[in-house]
Amino acid sequence: MSDSANVTPNNLDAFWMPFTANRQFKKAPRMFVAAKDMYYTTADGRKVLDATAGLWCVNAGHCRPKIVEAIRKQAGELDYAPAFQLAHPKAFELANRLVDIAPEGMNHVLYTNSGSESVETALKVALAYHRAKGEGSRFRLIGRERGYHGVNFGGISVGGIVANRKMFGTLLTGVDHLPHTHLPEKNAFTKGQPEHGGDLASELERIVTLHDPSTIAAVIVEPVAGSTGVLIPPKGYLKKLREICTKYGILLIFDEVITGYGRLGTPFAAQYYDVKPDIIITAKGLTNGVIPMGAVFVTSAIHDAFMSGPEHMIEFFHGYTYSGNPMASAAALATLDTYKEEGLLTRAAELAPYWEEQLHSLRDCPYVIDIRNTGLIGAIELEPIAGEATKRAFTAFLKAYEDGLLIRTTGDIIALSPPLIISKSEIDELFEKLRKVLMNNI
Ligand SMILES: Cc1ncc(COP(=O)(O)O)c(C=O)c1O
Repeated sequence: MSDSANVTPNNLDAFWMPFTANRQFKKAPRMFVAAKDMYYTTADGRKVLDATAGLWCVNAGHCRPKIVEAIRKQAGELDYAPAFQLAHPKAFELANRLVDIAPEGMNHVLYTNSGSESVETALKVALAYHRAKGEGSRFRLIGRERGYHGVNFGGISVGGIVANRKMFGTLLTGVDHLPHTHLPEKNAFTKGQPEHGGDLASELERIVTLHDPSTIAAVIVEPVAGSTGVLIPPKGYLKKLREICTKYGILLIFDEVITGYGRLGTPFAAQYYDVKPDIIITAKGLTNGVIPMGAVFVTSAIHDAFMSGPEHMIEFFHGYTYSGNPMASAAALATLDTYKEEGLLTRAAELAPYWEEQLHSLRDCPYVIDIRNTGLIGAIELEPIAGEATKRAFTAFLKAYEDGLLIRTTGDIIALSPPLIISKSEIDELFEKLRKVLMNNI
């Protein structure tokens, strides 16, 4: 442990924390000072089982030796190389490795530094693609109610979480939304894909008819919606979206920021659900959460549409100072090595049945109104306290933390997404601890 590890800063005022109840936190701070594999260590020396892979990003578990070593080495070898008109070899090596695990035909990669930036990049690629093809009238973007696509203006425009949108004015114009697919009255306690709601994809036909297909550039959805509290696509839903997009020449974008890199037991959700989008958005698990980095995959058809005009000209006016930077590329390469050596991109498939069984065993706990799961994802929806929405789940989060378990809550939903290295005995520990919390008068 480093010298600073045990020091709790005595003034917490200056840091305005993201997506945090700042005043509550600063009265009773929760600080991690170290982590290894499945466990965090708190400032007061307690071990906390990580049931959320940090924020859905630490898929290989914490402080994995290969990744740590790769970053150390890279920092001393090549710290930074300009990203525009210059490069370094690892950025290309990584792109090739990524294309190898991506669905067939996703042959090109643009780098970003986060999920939010990957979203903006994907939306801009979609708009510019149609224009490059001479279909500049396609300017509309279609998102979905309850969707989460990060926090930047494009992302909150196509996103559908009200609290993330309502404070920020007019957002992007020309955006419409599909209905969400959460139908608890019909689908509660479903294991895997719900039976009901597949037809909701047909709402895209209505939207297309309303605006005319010639105005629509892209549809963006999370294959499994995470931040809104884990909504699993109903049977047939994603395939239907694909069919309608293909019929009208609309690009289908999958935001795989949480499902990418093995969460469902395949490298990407596109493979799990056997539906091929035109663009895949990723971040988080790409570097195991260690260094900020995102990657947007596009098909050759999209990429090639930009490759015309004079060769000395920039083809796409977009990019970041840190796109594919050496440290992030080194971390991502070591992450992919770790995933490969330990079979982590498919491990969730082996664990899923056990995970499902243990998760659904909480059905008899008080206030549990729904449980849902897919791959190594689980959600437990709690009945809200009358007039105090979100409080019951937040109380559960605080109690779990005290009892040595890190869960994540959104609204009154507990979301679980442990590192893909979790063992069966750690799954047992997770659900024993969670049962205790839920039985404890929250
Ligand atoms: C589906 C999805 N898209 C985008 C994002 C934004 O990623 P970031 O926080 O890295 O900007 C997230 C983050 O949770 C996400 O779940």
